[in-house]
Amino acid sequence: MNRFVPDLAGVSETMLLALHNRAEEAKRPDGILTDPDSVRIYETIDYDFVHRFGISEGSLAVRAAETDQVLRHWLAAHPNGFVVSLGEGLETQVRRVDNGRMRWLSVDLPEAIRLRERYIPPTDRFRHLAANVLDPAWMDAVDPSSGVFIVAQGLFMYLEPEAVRRLFVDIAERFLGVEMVFDVIPRWFSRLTLWGLRRTPNYCLPPMPWGINSDEIEPTLRHWCPLLATVELLRYHMPRGLLHHFDPVFRLNPLFRNAVPNLVHVKTMCSEAVTSGTGS
Ligand SMILES: C[S@@+](CC[C@H](N)C(=O)[O-])C[C@H]1O[C@@H](n2cnc3c(N)ncnc32)[C@H](O)[C@@H]1O
Repeated sequence: MNRFVPDLAGVSETMLLALHNRAEEAKRPDGILTDPDSVRIYETIDYDFVHRFGISEGSLAVRAAETDQVLRHWLAAHPNGFVVSLGEGLETQVRRVDNGRMRWLSVDLPEAIRLRERYIPPTDRFRHLAANVLDPAWMDAVDPSSGVFIVAQGLFMYLEPEAVRRLFVDIAERFLGVEMVFDVIPRWFSRLTLWGLRRTPNYCLPPMPWGINSDEIEPTLRHWCPLLATVELLRYHMPRGLLHHFDPVFRLNPLFRNAVPNLVHVKTMCSEAVTSGTGS
């Protein structure tokens, strides 16, 4: 089979970085993610992943595996639910968590959806939308009748802070009872990317204007939107290596513990709680 040469740049190219991370992890005998679809796609793309992005350290595979767990739990309670994955790139989560009944909408920029559709054709239950997530028109494609879950892995950091606030509030207000999982980066890392952070000599990360420290997450989200029931920081640790061993040191040390990336799970109030003012 001819291997496909992708032509992506800027923020869209980051979908290849995330794929590299998940597929390399899925190929390991001791990997924390089972993802044959990622491996299949990875092996048919003609792109020098290691030259460009360096050796994969598995952190984005941890993000995917943790998000899968939350999604499976939610799908057990909402088997016909509607999942929207914003900025989905080449993520194959839809295949990993499918229960045969859920519906799924994948929203990404046109060049990203074009590449996605080479490998993951849309179906009646799994739909694709080429759109900017900042245009709320995508919300019209969501059927909220059996519950809505929003995933945004590796997306919010690429948006301006005010755009993240607007998007977050729009989602919470439009879909009462919605649950969301998204990851965030700390402020110091955001600042480095604005100066121009090289991941390898061959790859400079795109600017990531939205950074937020761990201790700011819950107060900020609650300030943005009073409709939140719970805000939980999920386990988001390196799977192995030096950073894995030093992780508890970072997380306990007051100098560092707020300056780590986080995976956030938010539940908003359902309509009954909003009407009765009970807040759950
Ligand atoms: C780091 S990749 C993450 C891809 C995927 N979520 C994953 O974890 O593999 C970021 C993705 O967000 C998409 N993206 C960035 N800004 C976007 C926007 N304003 N609207 C839609 N998609 C966007 C990019 O095209 C890219 O696919």
